[in-house]
Amino acid sequence: MTRRGIILAGGSGTRLHPLTASVSKQLLPIYDKPMIYYPLCTLLLAGISDILLITRPDDKRQFERLLGDGSQWGVTFSYASQVEPDGIADALLIGESFIDGAPSALILGDNIFFGAGLENLLSSATARTAGATVFSYAVKDPTAYGVISFGPDGRAAAIEEKPIAPQSHHAVTGLYFYDGRASEYAHSLRPSPRGELEITDLNRIYLENGELHAETMGRGYAWLDTGTQAALTDASQFVRIIEDRQGMKICCPEEIAWRKGFITTAQLRDLGRSIGSSGYGDYLVRITDEVG
Ligand code: G1P
Repeated sequence: MTRRGIILAGGSGTRLHPLTASVSKQLLPIYDKPMIYYPLCTLLLAGISDILLITRPDDKRQFERLLGDGSQWGVTFSYASQVEPDGIADALLIGESFIDGAPSALILGDNIFFGAGLENLLSSATARTAGATVFSYAVKDPTAYGVISFGPDGRAAAIEEKPIAPQSHHAVTGLYFYDGRASEYAHSLRPSPRGELEITDLNRIYLENGELHAETMGRGYAWLDTGTQAALTDASQFVRIIEDRQGMKICCPEEIAWRKGFITTAQLRDLGRSIGSSGYGDYLVRITDEVG
């Protein structure tokens, strides 16, 4: 069964100014494109073309207006709402009928991944049909994250949510690959002290079954989340610096859809022309020129 993708774009970001938070932060720009494009591109890069977007009920219409049914990029988008911020694992319950027993990948709407080798890392997770895959990333302060520690054999040994005394500096990123049992397991979860169905508790079920694969995203990767005003600006700067230096875009869904063969060169050129003379549209036309 083909792997389905879910993007959880639920929370507004409680650490943002209330006026900023009245708009879904995933619709705010990170430099030259809406934040939601970044997690979307991670799924596209993993070869996933059937994607459910879970948003706050009030935001759903805006997401639909921005992204439509996905056909413009040769993929399929559907939409669902998360009424209360009941946790990340809740996405697997909201998306249960969408997943329909297939393997899935779940990504948080504010997580940005970048790095050479990412496509290969994602492809191997996509190809694994049994168990779950998480990605660990070294951070200076792991206390704000799920934290994974490894045994002497290099396998995942423990996973904890926001530990006060972390056993390692390996944060668990907001990208998770599951086999067909994720929704079934999510039903057995109970809310944590913060009132959420914790994704870490779901991952611990896989760990205890000996079925949690932890891939390390090494120092050559960037993993940014965008939960604060400062982090939003930092992410924009990061993208601007790399894009301006290389003349290539980070997480441009039109380009990835084209490179993955979801749309043709002619379709990409039309998309570029329809966006017009903004730098973004010009970029799409330019990359089609490279192949003649
Ligand atoms: C959530 C997860 C945490 C994970 C993090 C990644 O944290 O609970 O395990 O490390 O996303 O962004 P939250 O955003 O709920 O603080």
